[in-house]
Amino acid sequence: MDDSKALPEEPSIRVVLLPRDTNSQGTIFGGIILSYIDLAGAVEVGKTTRQKVVTVGIKEVSFRAPVFVGEVVSFYTTTTRVGNTSISVHVDVEVWRQQESIHVTEADLTFVCVDEHGNPTAVVESSKRINRSKNKSR
Ligand SMILES: CC(C)(COP(=O)(O)OP(=O)(O)OC[C@H]1O[C@@H](n2cnc3c(N)ncnc32)[C@H](O)[C@@H]1OP(=O)(O)O)[C@@H](O)C(=O)NCCC(=O)NCCS
Repeated sequence: MDDSKALPEEPSIRVVLLPRDTNSQGTIFGGIILSYIDLAGAVEVGKTTRQKVVTVGIKEVSFRAPVFVGEVVSFYTTTTRVGNTSISVHVDVEVWRQQESIHVTEADLTFVCVDEHGNPTAVVESSKRINRSKNKSR
């Protein structure tokens, strides 16, 4: 991550990971982090549209630092592009460890709005983009 790049004020989700989330080394299994990245991305998309969306792509993800049981993991999200039927989101993952914020990984995801048959449909942006950190009421 470019360190000069500011993160959003609040993460879209924040979780504490448990022993059930570990791999054979005793650190957190990467697939668990990926599933939370997907979830955080979907939360971010919900700020743009109320439509049903599916994840169509997650670009290459590199894990730079391990995550340990009991750590608080924060998933910061930013909408990077609203296309015709798709919405792209950037997710930064950080843990707070020994008074320091550690950048664990980041990912770029694309979601597609789908109709009742699962076919792509044009993005209909909500009249008011939701940003709870700045405006607590809808
Ligand atoms: C998502 C899905 C409906 C898209 O159908 P499709 O016929 O491939 O759609 P299109 O080729 O018309 O592309 C739709 C949009 O997605 C974008 N897109 C397609 N594949 C993409 C990819 N791999 N990465 C990023 N964007 C992608 C296109 O650029 C297009 O964006 P735009 O309309 O904003 O320009 C279909 O692939 C699907 O159902 N996938 C399974 C989704 C799912 O179940 N996800 C959960 C994980 S299993």
